[in-house]
Amino acid sequence: MKPKNLADIFLEELKDIYHAEKQLLKALPKMAKAATCQQLAGAFTEHLAETQTHVKRLEAVFASINETPKVKKCEAMEGLVEEGGEAIEEDMPDHVRDALLIGAAQKVEHYEIGTYGTLRAWADQLGYEKAKALLMETLDEEKAADTALTELAFSHINHDAEIEPVAAK
Ligand SMILES: [Fe+2]
Repeated sequence: MKPKNLADIFLEELKDIYHAEKQLLKALPKMAKAATCQQLAGAFTEHLAETQTHVKRLEAVFASINETPKVKKCEAMEGLVEEGGEAIEEDMPDHVRDALLIGAAQKVEHYEIGTYGTLRAWADQLGYEKAKALLMETLDEEKAADTALTELAFSHINHDAEIEPVAAK
């Protein structure tokens, strides 16, 4: 379908992020399992629970504009998840992997923050008040998840990753 107006691209973008969130439901448990730092594993598990809420919220957004939830393949998230998968599969010291997992997860968060920010702005323009409120709730949670990851990286994970090769000698 060729988009004709803002409402059309809003719906297309909604399908894109719906697919992105669904991909994350599969990726986050793997990331939690691969993390060595318990706090990092906990952050991924917590964000998995939030992601389940994000999927439900998106379904509510679809309903609020009288649409049934549909996915549109999100190639960007596929690429980001693949990159995270490399951190899981490649052989490297545990703390280095943790630092890489944080990097991969933050790219995911920033993609989501960009998309939810755009959707919220479009919902505002379109007068989709209910959708706007729901999208803002998720946007705030994505931002908080991103901040939590930054704090973890600074608190000790980047430091541990730096000294790891020395410790391994
Ligand atoms: Fe999300």
